[in-house]
Amino acid sequence: MSTFSSHNFAGQRALIRVDFNVPIKNGTITDDTRIRAALPTINKVLADGGSVVLMSHWGRPLKDIEKKPHLTLADFSLKPVAAYLSGMLDSDVQFADDCISGDAVTKAASLQPGQILLLENLRYYKQEEKGDKDFAEKLSKLGDVYVNDAFGTAHRAHASTEVIAQFFPGDKKMFGLLMEGEVKAAEQVLHNNQKPFTAIIGGAKVSDKILIIENLLDRATDIIIGGGMAYTFFKAEGGQIGNSLCEDDRLDTALELLKKAQDKGVCIHLPADSIIADKFAADAQSSSALSVEVPEGWMALDIGQMAIEQFKKIIGESKTILWNGPMGVFEMDKFQHGTRAIAEAVADATAKGAFSLVGGGDSVAAVNKFGYADKVSYVSTGGGALLEYFEGKELPGIAAIKA
Ligand code: 3PG
Ligand code: MG
Repeated sequence: MSTFSSHNFAGQRALIRVDFNVPIKNGTITDDTRIRAALPTINKVLADGGSVVLMSHWGRPLKDIEKKPHLTLADFSLKPVAAYLSGMLDSDVQFADDCISGDAVTKAASLQPGQILLLENLRYYKQEEKGDKDFAEKLSKLGDVYVNDAFGTAHRAHASTEVIAQFFPGDKKMFGLLMEGEVKAAEQVLHNNQKPFTAIIGGAKVSDKILIIENLLDRATDIIIGGGMAYTFFKAEGGQIGNSLCEDDRLDTALELLKKAQDKGVCIHLPADSIIADKFAADAQSSSALSVEVPEGWMALDIGQMAIEQFKKIIGESKTILWNGPMGVFEMDKFQHGTRAIAEAVADATAKGAFSLVGGGDSVAAVNKFGYADKVSYVSTGGGALLEYFEGKELPGIAAIKA
């Protein structure tokens, strides 16, 4: 049994670092995935007869205010999340308008079993991102047990995610259930995978995905590359890509990755054909072409039918699947087919017994949009954190608990 599950929180205050960095537009939460994902951890503490102090960051207030002086700290408040969470939990969530001073201390000290307090945005203080020790120590006083459930922020070595752990003894710092689930799924894919292991990597830029591809070259059987980044590979190999996305300063990198894959016996699969458009717009004229023969004035915005068949076959034979990044501009109806087909293929492979992990903002948005979120093995709440994990880096938020 895990440390968290076997811990009895009766009469204790759990200080839980969550990642409530959720999209909020005009005060309304537009995607509550990360909030829902934190509920099992919160509910277990409450069911034990403990109380909960929640802390999170939201956005990048100090950096953004510097760039856009019309913004104020109030634009970055976590208050809407307190109201939202109250509705979800059917119990009142208290809110402290600061994370370390008066209000936070008083409210945290008077919490009764079953009560929940959410602290204001940690990033109101520059000390949070700087990993300031005094700031971390002040936060640590707000709870008896430190629970890190913020997988989405585990790649940040911040006061509340890393430094704070040193103020708790080994039996009073632990992962929450979300963090445990995320780590278990990621470990299964990276270290305990059954072969064939296919990684599907998409998105716009090669430069964002070099490290993950390099690390996967030592683990995966096949790597499918789709999305805008594929066209840098095609151009590097001498293809005609028209106006498709391309990072001209990464052509050599692309060739090096292909060479390394060949040396290591990993198959890299690029989309044989593409859906092309005469402009980047939902109402563009569209057609199809071989990916190395995109006409002048046209751009590739999705993978084509041959590529779909090619990728479906590989995915269908896989026992482990990692999917990070869409195959095309799936936000536009005309260019969603490739990403939808891949989502369906991953779901089908999962139904046949493969273990599939989907992570990274856009691919998660895609499985949600097409209704496959509950048909894959695991949907990660991590964007940058998941990427860094699969780049082979040690995540500070994980290491601090294990230390
Ligand atoms: C995220 O959404 O990427 C995490 O919450 C971390 O936020 P950050 O990228 O601003 O550190
Ligand atoms: Mg980020």
